[in-house]
Amino acid sequence: MVDTPRSVPSISLTRHLIEEERAGHIQADLRLLIEVVARACKSISVSVAKGALGGVLGEAGSGNIQGEAQKKLDVIANDVLLEANAWGGHLAACASEEMDHCQPIPDVYPRGAYLLLFDPLDGSSNIDVNVSVGTIFSVLRCPDGVTQPEDVHFLQPGTAQVAAGYCIYGPSTMLVLTIGHGTHAFTLDREQGSFVLTTRDMRVPAATKEFAINMSNQRHWEAPMQDYVRDLLAGETGPRGKNFNMRWIASMVADVHRILTRGGIFIYPWDRKDPSKAGKLRLMYEANPMSLLIEQAGGAATDGRTRLLDVAPTHLHQRVPVFLGSREEVEAATQYHRAHD
Ligand code: AHG
Ligand code: MN
Ligand code: MN
Ligand code: MN
Repeated sequence: MVDTPRSVPSISLTRHLIEEERAGHIQADLRLLIEVVARACKSISVSVAKGALGGVLGEAGSGNIQGEAQKKLDVIANDVLLEANAWGGHLAACASEEMDHCQPIPDVYPRGAYLLLFDPLDGSSNIDVNVSVGTIFSVLRCPDGVTQPEDVHFLQPGTAQVAAGYCIYGPSTMLVLTIGHGTHAFTLDREQGSFVLTTRDMRVPAATKEFAINMSNQRHWEAPMQDYVRDLLAGETGPRGKNFNMRWIASMVADVHRILTRGGIFIYPWDRKDPSKAGKLRLMYEANPMSLLIEQAGGAATDGRTRLLDVAPTHLHQRVPVFLGSREEVEAATQYHRAHD
């Protein structure tokens, strides 16, 4: 008599978050906020998947504070997240890559205890060529006594995040989330319409032979970055003693997801193309949430010299150099920079 295998009960995002609440790792209002963000990501996933059939590709004909031409989906994703969180009741304000300043929740709704930052569509230059893109989000506490949140209230270090995650719109749609107790991955079951836990406790291998760097900027880098990459490319007979492979998708969510899944180092360093910008990536809604996810999975994240989560923000849209991924490799790259100073 063959025992029919009991179907392993799939754990939905909702059940996972309720278990985390019962474990005292999360309060109900933050649990509900994460559910609202996840529902918004499901809606964005539907729009992204329509592609050319949904009239969502191409330029929006507008620009953002970053000096970037906005894609239609940048604007659509931003609106979906704003709308979902406006009435969600767990937020005090939102801030976004696509908005000059933060936006307090409309007065008609109850003010929540949290501040939500998001990059509504990361990697959007890839959307028209059908390469994976994503949504990145970060949650902070609204400082006590603040009834009219302003940009300045968002300027908290990455260690103050109470939750961080991304949703990657790839061959499958996945939500990767941390509330400070590990990094866990959920895959969207489109038939059920729910995110299902598919990897508990993602772990970044300590060592790697894969790097993600946009090499076309090499002539603009500072000396320690030049030295680090020179030795990286010298192969097994060089000072690093191993051959490295390069992977660069130009969609941070996709590059980071690969690193969380199989290791690697992702670097977007300072470059002198525009010295006023410390590289390209934004601290508050790209570097900080990704750094928390990576650290919670056993990896490391620095700006080349300092732990990224410790960087004291000075501006909502400030940029930082980003070195993140396999701990040993991030430490090696960071050492080149510290030794140079
Ligand atoms: P966004 O689409 O939100 O503006 O972010 C794009 C970022 C990031 O996703 C990626 O790692 C980087 O830009 C790619 O930069 P290059 O175009 O220099 O490769
Ligand atoms: Mn952008
Ligand atoms: Mn981005
Ligand atoms: Mn973006």
